[in-house]
Amino acid sequence: MAYFFQEPSHTFSEYLLVPGYSSEHCIPANVSLKTPVVRFKKGEECPLTMNVPMVSAVMQAVSGEQMGIALAKEGGIAFIYVSQSIESQAAMVRRVKNYKAGFVISDSNLRVTDTLADVLALKQRTGHSTMAVTDDGTGTGKMLGLVTSRDYRVSRMDPDAKVADFMTPVEKLIYAPEGTSLKTANDIIWDHKLNALPIISEDGHLVSFVFRKDYDSHKGNPLELLDSQKRYVVGAGINTRDYEERVPALVEAGVDVLVMDSSEGYSYWQKHCLEWIRAKYGDTVKVGAGNVVDGEGFRFLADAGADFVKIGIGGGSICITRETKGIGRGQATAVIDVAAERDKYFEETGIYVPICADGGIVQDYHITLALAMGADFCMLGRYFSRFDESPTSKILVGGSYMKEYWGEGSARARNWQRYDLGGAAKLSFEEGVDSYVPYAGALADGMATTLAKVRSTMCNCGALTIPELREKAKLTLVSATSIVEGGAHDVLLKDTTNGNQRG
Ligand code: IMP
Repeated sequence: MAYFFQEPSHTFSEYLLVPGYSSEHCIPANVSLKTPVVRFKKGEECPLTMNVPMVSAVMQAVSGEQMGIALAKEGGIAFIYVSQSIESQAAMVRRVKNYKAGFVISDSNLRVTDTLADVLALKQRTGHSTMAVTDDGTGTGKMLGLVTSRDYRVSRMDPDAKVADFMTPVEKLIYAPEGTSLKTANDIIWDHKLNALPIISEDGHLVSFVFRKDYDSHKGNPLELLDSQKRYVVGAGINTRDYEERVPALVEAGVDVLVMDSSEGYSYWQKHCLEWIRAKYGDTVKVGAGNVVDGEGFRFLADAGADFVKIGIGGGSICITRETKGIGRGQATAVIDVAAERDKYFEETGIYVPICADGGIVQDYHITLALAMGADFCMLGRYFSRFDESPTSKILVGGSYMKEYWGEGSARARNWQRYDLGGAAKLSFEEGVDSYVPYAGALADGMATTLAKVRSTMCNCGALTIPELREKAKLTLVSATSIVEGGAHDVLLKDTTNGNQRG
């Protein structure tokens, strides 16, 4: 007979934290959000920790190289999306690993055949007025010239004028070779009164820019996450299909941690993939697995050697898996169940396998709830897709700026490997949607606000660390009526734009 769980499954919004005693030491400045990412033995140090409990989702609309750099700067890890060729994914990883503070990969790029109208559209979209002209229109193509606002006058020029005719050609530019130090680059900028200095490789390809404005605004990032060689830490997704080729390419590119990107991880395919990685690399390559929604799924993946286990089916903002397939579980219940099994596993084996709550984080406080329920860190898609650093364009929709956000299970992503149960050669039905999310500015600013809230709530619970929060947290389910009571109610809001803002 089928098994029936006795309790209904709940989402984060159905829970609240009940404050505990806060001592005089319990202030946000004293809170540490450090958390383990991969398995470790009792009494030993975790070989990979993060300084904030947030990672970005393995999605085309979320985690490219800019996200990798920006998130590592803030102390978290981005998982570069897998639904692209092995070469381009490895190149993204390599660019994060090769990134040096102050050297910016160009994201506003043109071809010589583009027009003045294209220049204006690109400027509107990215907000940048310095644009590289390369042979293939990418930020790493062969450098042909530069367009800045000094190169054109909109009122006097035909919108169809070609970039080739008004750009400053590379021969007339001041640039520096790859390998130039930041100090030298800044000296060149200063001596020649430049706004931007292109860094160009020996074979003429654009590597990055150094901007004058960054010289002044460069501030320390006290939480930045660095490897032993002082390079940013970055993750990448893999699938259970082409790992024999993909994993070596990502390892060669310098990836720090991998994660299997799959909608359902309690499977033969994940075990097989983990076994292959362990046979080839031992425990030198770190790899997470998932997703699961109960203790049984966790134990299967922990036994198979997963370095961390991801929790969540059907809770993602763009996800329609529950509607289309009828599988999943309320995310809060799933986290609570898996956390209990993780603790049991630790007691029995002396091995701690971190768990990640993936999807369904809507309000900032949902992160605190997930941590209190036992998650070691959270994976977020919608949240990160809204920032400048996600790979999508900023567009004006009905008078407001939006970013596009689509599921890996949507026809747009064409990521059929994620849903593959062996044999399927293409996506036969969708499990995700294509959407807009309100543009939210720079990642650093958004995360600062979110984490300020997390630290503050932890203090209300009398906790200065994540393990302490887990120990001290008092959680209560709330009734539907008290959820209404939790928002502004029985008043007429003056400014609706500031009302219900979601994190
Ligand atoms: P969000 O943070 O609520 O937007 O959820 C992001 C998570 O949704 C990802 O990390 C994935 O686990 C999951 N996801 C991504 N694409 C899809 C999809 O197309 N269908 C179902 N789940 C998805």
